[in-house]
Formats: sequence, structure tokens, C-alpha cells
Amino acid sequence: MILVNHPLIRVHITVIRDREASVDQFRLHLTALARLLAFPALEDLQTRSVEVTTPLATAPGEALLYEPILVPVLRAGLGLVEGFRDVIPGSIVSHLGMYRDHETLRPVRYYSNFPEHRKSHPFILLDPMLATGGSAVNALDYLKEEGAQNIRLVSVIAAPEGVRRVESEHPDVPVYTAALDDHLDERGYILPGLGDAGDRQFGTL
Ligand code: PRP
Ligand code: URA
Repeated sequence: MILVNHPLIRVHITVIRDREASVDQFRLHLTALARLLAFPALEDLQTRSVEVTTPLATAPGEALLYEPILVPVLRAGLGLVEGFRDVIPGSIVSHLGMYRDHETLRPVRYYSNFPEHRKSHPFILLDPMLATGGSAVNALDYLKEEGAQNIRLVSVIAAPEGVRRVESEHPDVPVYTAALDDHLDERGYILPGLGDAGDRQFGTL
């Protein structure tokens, strides 16, 4: 697990944890976090050399070898898409619909849209909350079954239980997070956490 530590990250997380934050504040600060997390999570992206023509001459430059595929886990992962797209030219979005059954806490997959012709691209799984790890493991199983080979997971708040589970079942997948919290409560919510990330983004409390 890579715990991304930056003063701006700590400031933005504080805002989204606050139960008084409005839906718009939550969305804006989550987007800012996504932009900040994109840099460490993508620092090994491969590029190819290109030449660019300026108004005066030509200059050597670089372009992405493979555009990353962003895989937001619905609903909460949607809140990280805009920030990542802001900083990645040509990023592609492949949505993955999944919810956690409230009784069993097991993930239920209800939608997918895998980019069949782009298996060799880097895949960035986006989900702000890594709680029991059930959703992330299920999403990673799915991406690998479809043929993705280069995958990383970006979360915002992780519980130790979820990190352990992902690292034991998918040791090849780097996990980036902005905060490692204490533990889960009896309903599988992260403590101190921020509550239900989907509800807080979309106002469905
Ligand atoms: C949340 C969150 C993760 C999942 C994490 O989704 O976005 O996908 O829970 O929990 P886990 O690590 O225990 O699997 P939720 O089921 O609340 O769906 P929603 O985003 O549609 O509200
Ligand atoms: N999903 C959330 O949205 N929040 C949690 O604390 C755990 C799972």
C-alpha cells in the first residue's frame, strides 16, 4: 500500500470527512483529491518520443504510449473521474457497476463495459472507499478475467482490513490511498471514515 502524503491531501480529506460539508463541497474537494492522487499513481506511465512544431521551430516531446483506462466503481468512484480526466490526456472511462449488499456486505456486480481492444493499456480502478475489500477484490477479479494485466487501485480512505485483503488476493496490484483509517464498525463502515461516499456525493442520505 502506498500512503500518499501531502499537506493539500490532508486538508482536502479533512473537508470531506466533515459531516457538515455540503454535497457540492464534498464533490469539489474529492475532485481535488483525485487530481493530487493521479500524480503518484501514474508516475510510471510509459511515453513515446514525438516531435512538436512550435510557432518558431520544432522541439522534442512525449506522448502517452497507451492512454490509461479509468474504471470507476459506481457510484462512489464517479467522484474521482473528473479529477483524473483533468490531468490525463485521452483517458478512457470504463464504468463498473457494483454495490455492497447491506446484509452480507458482499459486492453485487450489475454493470460492466470492458474496453475489449485495449487490454494492454494501464487500468486505474477508482473507488474512494476500501472497507472490507470485497468490492475491490471482485472488481480486480473481473478486470483480470477480461484480460487486463497492468492494474492499480486508487482509493481515498482505506481500512487496514481492506488493504490486507487486496494485498493478499492481488499482490501484483499497487494500492494508493490518501488515508489509512483505524478499523471497520459492525456494519462494515470505515471509522472514522466519512460515512457513505455515494450518498455524500449525490445527496441521497
Ligand atoms: C461503497 C464503496 C465501495 C464499497 C467499499 O459502495 O464505494 O465500492 O462500498 O466497501 P467494501 O470494501 O466493503 O466492499 P456502496 O456499496 O456503498 O455503493 P454505492 O457507491 O452505490 O453507494
Ligand atoms: N462504503 C462507504 O461508502 N463508506 C464506508 O465507510 C464503507 C464502505
